[in-house]
Amino acid sequence: KTVYILNGPNLNLLGKRQPEIYGHDTLADVEAVCAELGEKIGLKTRLLQSNWEGQIIDWIHEARDAAQGIIINPAALTHTSVAVLDALNTFDGPVLEVHISNVHQRESFRHHSYVSQRADGVIAGFGVEGYALALRRMGRLLA
Ligand code: DQA
Repeated sequence: KTVYILNGPNLNLLGKRQPEIYGHDTLADVEAVCAELGEKIGLKTRLLQSNWEGQIIDWIHEARDAAQGIIINPAALTHTSVAVLDALNTFDGPVLEVHISNVHQRESFRHHSYVSQRADGVIAGFGVEGYALALRRMGRLLA
């Protein structure tokens, strides 16, 4: 089984971007950890990142055929994008939402997530470890 791990705007700069909030690990580090854990629990992972909303939507459409589950950190699109929510609503499998930071502790505009309406689970504030936790959960949901 395959899990898409989708990442929205500015997450290409993970590790360099506001490390006091997001930490020092890069998205390549996250990819390596997820690939290794995925192998252990029998899941193929494909980690993707784009700064473009339309690209994220195209990948969600692609996942309809190519993946059984989606883990998504929509980044700022979390708080703005009905289009990402609509795309996720076309996907039949489990969807898990990840935020590296605790969005509820931050500015009020980060407190609302369009994606949470579709997500089967949400992780926030566990740092990049949240991705691995979501992948473990995905393993159970797809078992
Ligand atoms: C984020 C939180 C969002 O509010 C922010 O726009 C991001 C990253 C997180 O992982 O903590 O870009 O999704």
